[in-house]
Amino acid sequence: MTKIRITLFVLLTSLTFSWAGNPMDEGMWLPSLIGKNEAQMKKQGFKLTAKDIYDINNASLKDAIVSMGGFCTAEIVSDKGLIFTNHHCGYEAIASNSTPENNILDNGFWARTNADEKPIEGLWIRRLVRMEDVSDKIIPQLTGLGERERAAKVNQLGSELSNKAKEGTHYEASVTEFAKGNAYYLLVFERFTDIRLVGAPPQSVGKYGGDTDNWEWPRHTGDFSVFRIYTAKDGKPATYSKDNVPYSPKRFLSVSLKGIKPGDFSMVFGFPGRTNRYESSMGIKLAIDKVNMSIVKNRDIRLKAWKEEMDKDVATKLALSAEYANIANYWKYFIGQTQQLQKLKVYDQKVQQEEQFKTWAKGKPEYENLFTDWEKAYSAYEPYAMHPQYLNQGLFGAHLAPIVLSMTRLESVLKDNKTSEIGQITGNFKANADEVFKDFNLPSDQKIVAQTLLAFYNDIPKNQHPEVIAEILSKFSAGTPEESFKKFAQETYLTSNFSTKERFLKFLENPTYETLTNDWACKYFQSFRKNYITKYNKFVTDFQEVDKKLSRTYIKGLSEMNPSWVQYPDANSTLRVSYGNVQDYDPRDGVHYKYKTTLTGIIEKYKPKDYEFDLPQNFLELYKNKDFGQYADSDGDVTVGFITNNDITGGNSGSPVLNAKGELIGLAFDGNWEAMSGDIVFDKKYKRCINVDIRYVLWCIEKLGGSDLVKELKVVK
Ligand code: ARG
Repeated sequence: MTKIRITLFVLLTSLTFSWAGNPMDEGMWLPSLIGKNEAQMKKQGFKLTAKDIYDINNASLKDAIVSMGGFCTAEIVSDKGLIFTNHHCGYEAIASNSTPENNILDNGFWARTNADEKPIEGLWIRRLVRMEDVSDKIIPQLTGLGERERAAKVNQLGSELSNKAKEGTHYEASVTEFAKGNAYYLLVFERFTDIRLVGAPPQSVGKYGGDTDNWEWPRHTGDFSVFRIYTAKDGKPATYSKDNVPYSPKRFLSVSLKGIKPGDFSMVFGFPGRTNRYESSMGIKLAIDKVNMSIVKNRDIRLKAWKEEMDKDVATKLALSAEYANIANYWKYFIGQTQQLQKLKVYDQKVQQEEQFKTWAKGKPEYENLFTDWEKAYSAYEPYAMHPQYLNQGLFGAHLAPIVLSMTRLESVLKDNKTSEIGQITGNFKANADEVFKDFNLPSDQKIVAQTLLAFYNDIPKNQHPEVIAEILSKFSAGTPEESFKKFAQETYLTSNFSTKERFLKFLENPTYETLTNDWACKYFQSFRKNYITKYNKFVTDFQEVDKKLSRTYIKGLSEMNPSWVQYPDANSTLRVSYGNVQDYDPRDGVHYKYKTTLTGIIEKYKPKDYEFDLPQNFLELYKNKDFGQYADSDGDVTVGFITNNDITGGNSGSPVLNAKGELIGLAFDGNWEAMSGDIVFDKKYKRCINVDIRYVLWCIEKLGGSDLVKELKVVK
């Protein structure tokens, strides 16, 4: 039964939309089960077989697709372990290797020899060795368990299974939950930890269009960067050593220069992070009315404060760039998601589907009260839903917060006067002080504290406020709450032991319970933390438990309601295949968007000195001289970006776009504005996947970067 369940996920939309005869574009399919899609894929133009995609006995395409650090996807493109991913995936690695004197983020970088490649500490790559449905070994043992016991049992059974799977190998294994616990898979991975930066275009190219163009089509971003996997001499993964050698992979991708046209088959293979396609109407309503805008408002405060300082000098800009890009990315995401949820009437769609479910569920004890229970859970949770957002996206977004909150243990050992532990903890802090203050920017941080406090004060119901707010208003009184909070922040940053490295180190020389707990930074953040943990966290975790249980039941019910519909589980950072076609679209009445963009379009958007639309001088010259080499299209221009209807989400960034023969034609890097609600509902008419054309990537490497890396690839023409 459980086996069938994973292959027969049912989506109610099958009842309300007509799919007959339409190509299937929605779906993030498990590679091990892709056989069931093979016929449809062939109908859409696919020339290979399911076994070419996933095979545990022979090298298959999946061996060339790797997870990059768990947050992005990359693909192996040479027999020497060369990998391509997006520029925004390599961004932090590039930024952290940049200095005002050798600014590779702004100027770009190309290693001329293997020895020039830059080891990236902490970065890892994982290849999926195999996956196995273990639902039958787990689900029958969960009957009757509450959510907590259930999680513990899954943990225990999961460790047993994964320990057994790893035995005698250098692999890692884990059991991962699918569809909120309707299925479980054992996943076996090989992890590589010596990863080196090989090259990246200047960020004016790699991030062309910046946040203005982010999440939008038409797009002209050269969103790629290049890394290499190294292993020990025996080919096994190893930590960094100068004696390590380039990885010799089981499989790498060939690169096609043949180009694309509308209707061409396209397949995206990667590690999508999270979708929520079974979200309830109540969840949509809460997101639209409260949660999304809490996230946007609080992120906005940080972005503005950082930008002001980043514009002042290069060192600050380099220190804050990567975090800025991350925060900006999902700031715009939530603005777009909210707009499109409303515009595409997703709430109404969900209500309609739920009504059908409720009718079907009548008289079925397992399902008939599901929505009554779910609504109850939402009403209990709703009054507190914004509180953790204002902490996590707001107050605790100040860099001072994690420093202060990491003193919690020290506070307790100081209180109990545990001398040896005190020495140990302070020793650790001293050793890490440089790291802790590396990206600390006092002027912006101070503003962030004052403004996120004001936002909390204004937007969160007064009965949920911690006592420290009233204390601040009286001690730092300066007329309005806004002025008082500013004064509080100013004085705190001027005096706190945690707002400069010098004072921090001095404090660690002779820490006392009194100095620590009387520090206003400490009082402030600890009071918010304790208030939340002791009084409000419970509402959130209770809700999450019930929500998960009911979602699981809902998904199970849907599959029983419509047993013939083949469906896929929500994204969960596991390897997935999505197939579709190159396809244009009409974003709104009277407007048509073409399927591709060109170098000429980059030049049209060019704004000298602008921080998002500037271009390097040699770019302009190459364009003027039409120096396009073998990368020009039949119309004499270079294709830069193109769109397909593949179903992707965050985490897919860097994924290969493959043609009918499994050759690399582009890298997926974004979604489009008109379908920003796509993580919740896949809208066929609007949802597109934005890709950078591989020919533009190679043009940037060879012509713009002057690197001869292309020789290392297997290029097909
Ligand atoms: N929206 C892209 C994604 O989530 C990331 C783009 C990064 N660029 C930026 N300007 N923040 O995959």
